[in-house]
Amino acid sequence: MSMEKHAWWKEAVVYQIYPRSFADSNGDGIGDLNGITAHLDYLKQLGVDVIWVSPIYASPNDDNGYDISDYRAIMAEFGTMEDFDRMLEGIHARGMKLVMDLVANHTSDEHAWFVESRKGRDNPYRDFYIWRDGKDGGAPNNWGSCFSGSAWEYDAASGQYYLHLFSRKQPDLNWANPKVRDAVFDMMKWWCDKGIDGFRMDVISMIGKENYDDGPVAPGALYGSFIPSCQHTETTHRYLREMRRRVLDRYDLLTVGEAGGGTADAIRYSSVDGSELNMTFGFEHTDDINDHTELGKWSDHGSPLAEVRAVLNRWQTDLQGKAWGTSYMSNHDQPRQVSRFGNDSPLWREKSAKMLGTLLHMMRGTVFVYQGEELGMTNAYFKSLDDYRDVEVFNAWKQWVESGRIHPQDMLRWYGRIARDNARTPMQWDASANAGFTTGTPWIRVTPNYLEINAEAEVRDPDSVFHYYRKLIALRHRHPIVVYGDYVPLLTDDPQVYAFRRELDGETLTVLCNWTDRTAPCALSDESTGEEWISNYPEHKPGFLFPYEARVLWKKA
Ligand code: GLC
Ligand code: CA
Repeated sequence: MSMEKHAWWKEAVVYQIYPRSFADSNGDGIGDLNGITAHLDYLKQLGVDVIWVSPIYASPNDDNGYDISDYRAIMAEFGTMEDFDRMLEGIHARGMKLVMDLVANHTSDEHAWFVESRKGRDNPYRDFYIWRDGKDGGAPNNWGSCFSGSAWEYDAASGQYYLHLFSRKQPDLNWANPKVRDAVFDMMKWWCDKGIDGFRMDVISMIGKENYDDGPVAPGALYGSFIPSCQHTETTHRYLREMRRRVLDRYDLLTVGEAGGGTADAIRYSSVDGSELNMTFGFEHTDDINDHTELGKWSDHGSPLAEVRAVLNRWQTDLQGKAWGTSYMSNHDQPRQVSRFGNDSPLWREKSAKMLGTLLHMMRGTVFVYQGEELGMTNAYFKSLDDYRDVEVFNAWKQWVESGRIHPQDMLRWYGRIARDNARTPMQWDASANAGFTTGTPWIRVTPNYLEINAEAEVRDPDSVFHYYRKLIALRHRHPIVVYGDYVPLLTDDPQVYAFRRELDGETLTVLCNWTDRTAPCALSDESTGEEWISNYPEHKPGFLFPYEARVLWKKA
């Protein structure tokens, strides 16, 4: 008998929208809020409960909205506050909820606070950001930014440096200043009072800077790491508990932290004691599995079954009874999951997309679906640097290719595998020009396979990835075991099959997934294991799983 406490945000399936690439309503090539509002029925049909929109606030778009210049205004390209109100109303009218992105580790350098802060050492906003004197004629310490280069930018006017863990147009806020915390918390309450239903908290694990000491330098790396001073610190946990008391506890919200770290960190951020957040995103099965060289994510390292399974099994079991988690493989910072973990060749794309969906939706944790995932959308595989739009790509090019350290062909291959723009191409709505995303010129190229892979075709085809996702979501809504059942790893050494069991009140659910393009022996794939709830194959071979076959078998003891 599971003792798990019930909550709507545990039962929810969340759909992430990257607004710039979702739907353009006015032909300027950029997705917008009215575009979202126009497609709410599609999301309702899919069956999701919550929509998380990546940032829609005023922004100069150095990092596509993750650089905010006004937290209480809508980005002009996306529409107006009236458009927002209409979108929120439309979401609520359909019984869905809205989660906003909270980007408060940093602002844009064009935010009024920073414009003031930069005016000089005695400006009242100086201490809203992190300013330091240089050391030995250079930056205050050796930290590198997440987007390449130093994490410090020199400001000639005042002769000091400011900290930016991301791009130089994203100066870090100084959370140690109580006025910063007051300002952020007021802003959060303002949005909650407008009726939103939660926050996804951007790099929330980095808000509590504890010191500014040089960090360790990995062999071959150009900069030191800020992690020991900035990630998962006691100070961050203190700020989150304060946020909980002063804001979150006054509303009924879904809160999810972009936190990463290990399971011990996740258990602190999202403990069942409710002192901080509802849940976090872990990155061990996405970012960390990929980072193996001094180039960070830029590598040929794949995502082998043995590694992914070991990580996910550990997260599923470690959190059980201690913390709530999330289940995801895709978002706007990751490549497309079917290209990364599955097989996006025409022969296996659909089967492997459904197999991965089965795995994610049958796990414990709130499920996050990233726009287009429900269609089995693939990586963009751009051939030329000109096709990219992401600041991360351009900064890495400067650091590694223009300096002559890395051959352009290697870098372009790694970009094709892992760059964020792979998942930021326009949503593929139909087979008309530009995939029905815009009547103008899209801000980023449409992936040519939209002629075969698009929402209109998949909604029409009962056998599509879309309808398979719809069924998976419905199963979660109908059966408490999918949400609250315990997780038990099975066949942990199998070379081809990812398998696990869920258990609740004498029921068991056995989930079997073949991760390979070869038939796999699997004794559990048999009627004696249970009655079939869902599968991506119409027929089976007892004792085996076909290539990329997934089956979910239910049994009452
Ligand atoms: C998070 C966001 C990413 C952004 C970064 C800086 O990782 O998901 O898109 O670039 O934070 O805000
Ligand atoms: Ca537009």
